[in-house]
Amino acid sequence: MKKDFLAIADYSPDELNELLNLAVKLKKEYFEHGNQPLLKGKVLGMIFNKPSLRTRISFDMAMRHLGGDALFISPNEIGLGKRESIADVARVLSGYVQGIMARVFEHDHVLQLAKWADVPVINGLSDYNHPCQAMADILTIKENFESLPGLNVTYVGDGNNVAVSLMHVCAKLGLNFTIASPEGYDLPENTIKLAREFATSSGSSLKFLRDPHQAVAGAQVIYTDTWTSMGQEEEALKREKVFPPYQVNQAMLSEADSEAIVLHCLPAHRGQEITDEVADGSHSRLFPQAHNRLHAQKAILLRLLQG
Ligand code: CP
Ligand code: NVA
Repeated sequence: MKKDFLAIADYSPDELNELLNLAVKLKKEYFEHGNQPLLKGKVLGMIFNKPSLRTRISFDMAMRHLGGDALFISPNEIGLGKRESIADVARVLSGYVQGIMARVFEHDHVLQLAKWADVPVINGLSDYNHPCQAMADILTIKENFESLPGLNVTYVGDGNNVAVSLMHVCAKLGLNFTIASPEGYDLPENTIKLAREFATSSGSSLKFLRDPHQAVAGAQVIYTDTWTSMGQEEEALKREKVFPPYQVNQAMLSEADSEAIVLHCLPAHRGQEITDEVADGSHSRLFPQAHNRLHAQKAILLRLLQG
């Protein structure tokens, strides 16, 4: 296993499946027998340069479940790269904590933390990707279908950080990935190039479309995310004009497979990228998906922090 968890792209399909199977096992054990102190005495330092509900609480609770502890470090406290260089922050923290989780704006900041820290670094979302989210996503998909390879996963909306990690986990594990996004909001070209390599190895297919209706036809999983990610707030009005045809609503859902599930990393902007009817409807798996962050991250923490 690698020292850090920074991107789905860094992990082989076998390693991802191993993490996924460990998450399934830990979740089952937790519900059957309660907590096991497998990381007793270990502390995770959590650097947050952006707000968070799920990432913050699920990592904190994951450490508690495993008998360890977590420290919340707010941006104002350490001024990552401003008050002090990232290299110095990484080296100082390495003497205090056994792992670092960081939510940053620029992906390069998480790469620098990993370069300079002696302890494992976990990416809790950057502008480029959101790998912990993708592990919870794939765990949720696995719980809803008998087998992952060959499933059709369709992402509708902005080609953002969440979409990058979802595309990569699908391409690595043999799920077919389709995205429908408006012109100007495509996935970054370099992430598509990587996905093509992964898909060639796994035998999955990739489709990049403009028409969301064409994209959801035959989908077993429909996924959407906010139209405006954190850090893009000044573009919100412009985006609200472009994205309405990409809203996941009942009409769009009815075009997918009749057993399709709907996922969203949350927070949701109800009435924009998803309607209440769909978010709260029988096809929605939004809350089990959010809860799976806990179980997926316990597997990541265990693999990286268990000495
Ligand atoms: N999905 C997710 O990462 O949520 P938070 O921003 O609340 O952590
Ligand atoms: N794409 C969103 C995900 C939030 C969890 C963002 O970056 O704001």
